[in-house]
Amino acid sequence: MAVDVLLGLQWGDEGKGKIVDVLSAGYDLIARFQGGPNAGHTLEFDGKKFVLNTIPSGIFFNNTMNLIGNGVVIDPITLKRELDKLKDAGHDLLTKKNLVIAKKAHLILPTHQLLDAASEKKMGEGKIGSTLKGIGPTYMDKTGRNGLRIGDILSPEFKGQYQKLVNKHTSMLQALYGEVPDFGEREAAFFEAVDLIKQFPLVDSEHYVNGFIKQGKKILAEGAQGTMLDIDFGSYPFVTSSNTTTAGACTGLGIAPQQIGDVIGIFKAYCTRVGGGPFPTELENETGEELRRIGHEFGATTGRPRRTGWIDLPALKYAIMLNGATQLVMTKADVLSGFDKIYACTHYKYNGEIIDYMPYDICNTKAEPVYQEIEGWHEDLTGITAVDQIPQKLANYISYLEKELGVPVKYLSVGPDRVQTLTLH
Ligand code: GDP
Ligand code: IMO
Ligand code: MG
Repeated sequence: MAVDVLLGLQWGDEGKGKIVDVLSAGYDLIARFQGGPNAGHTLEFDGKKFVLNTIPSGIFFNNTMNLIGNGVVIDPITLKRELDKLKDAGHDLLTKKNLVIAKKAHLILPTHQLLDAASEKKMGEGKIGSTLKGIGPTYMDKTGRNGLRIGDILSPEFKGQYQKLVNKHTSMLQALYGEVPDFGEREAAFFEAVDLIKQFPLVDSEHYVNGFIKQGKKILAEGAQGTMLDIDFGSYPFVTSSNTTTAGACTGLGIAPQQIGDVIGIFKAYCTRVGGGPFPTELENETGEELRRIGHEFGATTGRPRRTGWIDLPALKYAIMLNGATQLVMTKADVLSGFDKIYACTHYKYNGEIIDYMPYDICNTKAEPVYQEIEGWHEDLTGITAVDQIPQKLANYISYLEKELGVPVKYLSVGPDRVQTLTLH
């Protein structure tokens, strides 16, 4: 099977960018298949740190190509900013020729972001907690069959098509929210960025990816967000607007399901969530603050503090089932060093019953976690380089999780740097 998939099993920010970077050298193509600049994927190596929003995390290897797939929504302004930053750091992707973009990927317009902000403002307390990057409104235009796609920027009609969609958005803004904020500056930046995008190869991602498959090359599909933010299976409506699960890799790139090989599911040794919505194991106390402080749990895209809590096994099992995960990666184990006891939620108390699954009504009825207490470890993990240096109590935690989850933890991450990664099996 030619295509492996790496995706998040929790609520995002599991460390996907870091691990895709670690695995990139073993693949010919890294392909983002959904989401947009709501994602922030952090990579660290050689004392340098990069945060990628739209660009796949395989760009730092010379023999690996990178594709922004048709399932992604692209904000040209953010993409240009990413490209400019990389260029300033000595990675000019135009010269490196290692990035191609799907013509069928949809465009985020400045007015999509205004609609996102207006919608959140109107919802008040009950808001989704969107990153305000225009993701929801852009996917709405895609499924509503009004959207503009990357391929459209090559058409002489593009400015007219753009204006038509903007007119629709401004009349919606006026009617629903009573105002249309000025977006002149962003519009100018949008067209400047579109000119840069035109210089990259714009491809039919389905043919591009299947061409790699025919040649026997290896592909890694890079997910964004996490399973619990999936539009169908996440804690709706507190979700993002795309399929973040394995199935999304098929529609987001144009590949058949039988091409999927390994599904690498990634999770933190604990749990975080940013934005609104249910989070059964959330710790709104000093322990939660400790996790946030030690784990630097602040959004890579928005800088917002992330909500923190213990690991949630019913949610993880659900995610493993939905994705067909064949291998697991546990990240941020180092953050738990120093806790005498750690806890794993095994069940929920829900409506007076003990259940071991995510209930449909989780947004309205509280699911209270039932915990298994686990001995913590005190050793600093950040310098360990071999499996035999793993403290026994951490090894016990990993074995416990493997037994509960039924899937092997293949990689263990003990720090943000590329080299702080161990292969366990
Ligand atoms: P992504 O969205 O899944 O790519 O994850 P983010 O980049 O948003 O968030 C993960 C954060 O944790 C980043 O700041 C990473 O540099 C950092 N990180 C990744 N793995 C580890 C780890 O094993 N230990 C520690 N301490 N930090 C990590
Ligand atoms: P990565 O790829 C964590 C969350 C937002 C909000 C909800 C909807 O870095 O893991 P949206 O902007 O999509 O309308 O927001 O989803 N969210 C993320 N949380 N990591 C992400 O991406 C996220 N992308 C969106 O906080 O709750
Ligand atoms: Mg992130």
